[in-house]
Amino acid sequence: MQNNVLILDFGSQYTQLIARRVRELNIFCEIKPYNKPPEDLSIYNAVILSGSPFSVRAEDAPHPDLSEIQGKKPLLAVCYGAQYLAHFKGGNVSPSNTREYGRANLSYIKSGEPFFNNISEGSQVWMSHSDTIKALPTNGIKLASTNDVENAAYKIEGEDTYAIQFHPEVYHSTDGKQLLENFLVNIAGVTQTWTPDAFVDTTVDYLREKIGDEKVILGLSGGVDSSVAAMLLHKAIGKNLHCIFVNNGLLRKDEFPSVLKQYEGMGLNVKGVDASARFLDELAGESDPEKKRKIIGRVFIEVFDDESHLVTNAKWLAQGTIYPDVIESVSATGGPSATIKSHHNVGGLPDFMKLSVVEPLRMLFKDEVRRVGSSMGLDPLLLGRHPFPGPGLAIRILGDITREKVAILQEVDAIFINGLKEAGLYDDVWQAGAMLLPVNSVGVMGDERTYEKCVALRAVESTDGMTADWVNLPYEFLQKTSNDIINKVRGVNRVVYDISSKPPATIEWE
Ligand code: XMP
Repeated sequence: MQNNVLILDFGSQYTQLIARRVRELNIFCEIKPYNKPPEDLSIYNAVILSGSPFSVRAEDAPHPDLSEIQGKKPLLAVCYGAQYLAHFKGGNVSPSNTREYGRANLSYIKSGEPFFNNISEGSQVWMSHSDTIKALPTNGIKLASTNDVENAAYKIEGEDTYAIQFHPEVYHSTDGKQLLENFLVNIAGVTQTWTPDAFVDTTVDYLREKIGDEKVILGLSGGVDSSVAAMLLHKAIGKNLHCIFVNNGLLRKDEFPSVLKQYEGMGLNVKGVDASARFLDELAGESDPEKKRKIIGRVFIEVFDDESHLVTNAKWLAQGTIYPDVIESVSATGGPSATIKSHHNVGGLPDFMKLSVVEPLRMLFKDEVRRVGSSMGLDPLLLGRHPFPGPGLAIRILGDITREKVAILQEVDAIFINGLKEAGLYDDVWQAGAMLLPVNSVGVMGDERTYEKCVALRAVESTDGMTADWVNLPYEFLQKTSNDIINKVRGVNRVVYDISSKPPATIEWE
């Protein structure tokens, strides 16, 4: 990969954001943990050092060897990175006397400095650090200050080494993207050729060469990632891609036939496998959320394994793994997100399947997956679909699962989701769905007393599902939806709307 930028991760919560900003400039980049740097540095045109929760003065802090990087490649050191260069190269880093979190403004910029092209004094930057650089490293030249931070930016004379105390990657640093462009394009000379079209071309060539005439199996879920992965492989190897779309009986109403038809319309070699009965029989009587997930995971693997054996001589298993999953599993400091997400992918298929894994999207963020899908002409309705959990309605039916409960919830969910679409609200919501609660409550319909089910509606806004807030849906919409549900779905006499944020709640109720 030419024109590639390396981001060395010291464990900052913002490292992924650096990558996103760089990609927004149409420049490819990769994040690697500082303690597992790539062996071949020759493929990188520039290096960025991330921030870190550590103090450089702590013994267990990241202290990597930069001798093959500093002075040899254009280098931008952010926050911890800036302190690291100062601390070990003749400067001084000490605890700061004032709190340095949040908004600050550049009060001084060295004149004529190309690093600050098109950025003026007063520009807002975002600080988040408790140590400060009291003295610059040897040959350091101050480039910028803020009111509280004397050495907010510096460079090393005679090198393309730049360092900044603030975070250019967060949106609150208003000229952050410009600064990254100044460094990467004007100083490091990296070209801006990373576009969805270019990605499709190079990936299709790569897949064709890697896979040759061999057969690939891919599990489609109806979601964006597996669909885009399938289209890339389809372009590369055509009918040698064998897609399997399993109905676990816990999909949305009519989802199985309609999505299957859509896949066929895309030209994919896809087989729909209706295993609803098998899943629902195995789930009967089980109320524990984690056990439900385990049963569904196991049965999925069994069904998928049976089906893949019908494809003779398959050598590859394709997966729709995307970049955040990859980074989390190798991040510098680990972190809880890795475990939270472990159950989300088809990943972790058992060794006995003996297939080599191919993951065409493993370098892309979610929004990039959508852009790649759109550059291949995928239906915008498919690309804009809300996320839907692998265990489907099983984790939205609290308590045990019966066919009758699935049917009730499918009706309720369809009214809610179609209502959002009709009201033009669907795209404003990151994810929405309905939960069937394990309580009956008293109601009155006509002259009759009823004792029926209660459903909860949930609509959240989020960027990655890790944190989320409930959406302030208009009262009129909630009123109409509630009426529709109670009038049309037999067995439901009460509708509530979930107004909890994540944390402390989660998006799903199980
Ligand atoms: P929570 O409920 O943890 O959900 O706030 C965060 C996101 O993950 C989805 N989710 C799952 N997806 N298998 C999946 O494939 C699961 O077991 C699972 N549990 C939660 C959830 O729908 C939301 O998008």
